[in-house]
Amino acid sequence: PAAVPSICGMPLKYVSLVTLAVQNALLTIIMHYSRVSTAPSRTYSAAAAVLMNELLKGFISLVIAFVRLDRQEHTPSAPKTTLSISGVTIFKTCHPRNLMSKFRRLGREVFSPDCWKLSIPSILYVIQNNLQYVAASNLDAATFQVSYQMKILTTAAFSVLLLRRKLSFTKWFALLLLAVGVGIVQIQSGAVKITSAASTDVHVMQPLKGFLAVAAACFTSGLAGVYFEMVLKNSPADLWVRNVQLSLFSLLPALVPIIAANASSPVEAAAVASQGCFLTNLFRNFGPWAWATVLIQVFGGLVTALVIKYSDNIMKGFATSLSIVISFLASVALFDFRITFAFTVGSLTVLLATWLYNQPDSSNGKGWKWSRPC
Ligand code: C5P
Repeated sequence: PAAVPSICGMPLKYVSLVTLAVQNALLTIIMHYSRVSTAPSRTYSAAAAVLMNELLKGFISLVIAFVRLDRQEHTPSAPKTTLSISGVTIFKTCHPRNLMSKFRRLGREVFSPDCWKLSIPSILYVIQNNLQYVAASNLDAATFQVSYQMKILTTAAFSVLLLRRKLSFTKWFALLLLAVGVGIVQIQSGAVKITSAASTDVHVMQPLKGFLAVAAACFTSGLAGVYFEMVLKNSPADLWVRNVQLSLFSLLPALVPIIAANASSPVEAAAVASQGCFLTNLFRNFGPWAWATVLIQVFGGLVTALVIKYSDNIMKGFATSLSIVISFLASVALFDFRITFAFTVGSLTVLLATWLYNQPDSSNGKGWKWSRPC
């Protein structure tokens, strides 16, 4: 049997799981901070961040897919170029004359006739990633994190609709509990003002706007996730090749809000024209926190892929519920987030629902069954 991949002796399955939990919590906190800590007039473009996320994720996935081609090639006699320092192999690749054929092969895989299937989840993910910024700007980190758990509900609904999966009574009950928990958390959410560095310019959070954004993001998350799973499980294509396809199809929808913003804002357009450089303007106000948000999001996309590959969606659910606790505690420490009774009860209800939802079904095999990792 194939060896289970591990890092420093720990199975990659668990490493990716814990990493996803920490990544989820970090993203929630840093994205929120990056949006509300500066005056609205000096904040960065969320659309540019989403575009950068897709570019970086696509590039990294392309490199991984390229490296993995070697493993899939059954040509042990292929000549290799090896770079070694003091006997330690640093870099090992095909002979230069084989590189071109590798590029061509990767190109054929990426632009395979069925690559268009990824266009649907990629558009949905771009919408979701943009909505995440709206939600993070208008809800406190912990409320956003808890509300975002509704994606379990939408994932279940789309799995039943599209994948014809069956849910046990326990799982339906857990879903109901989840909706109740999210509702309770919303009760305590009121308008909060965060004073920015510029005294005249304040960031005012609009909880209703944030909640609508998070609800829509949950809808796209469920649909995109189930659709991606359908594509992944119904073809033998490599996960990283699929990720490259996902990023490629994301580029166009990611550019739409950037172009639309320029077209709808003559002042912006004039500024772009006067300063001459489109990229400089696009990444205006992109400070360290904005870059940190993008990098954590890129990392999250890659870890999500690993969790799907080496673990499964049940584990992904656990990772997300773990991240609630982490971001909740961090919100208390960092943002002076006040623990209300409603928030505590709502969060505990969400956690209980997530735990219940992730309980294995009875062994009669009639209940919900998550697919095996690909
Ligand atoms: O919250 P959810 O699990 O739906 O978030 C998925 C996130 O992971 C999205 O930001 C999406 O762009 C990213 N993703 C990815 N590659 C995949 C699947 C999801 O980058 N194969």
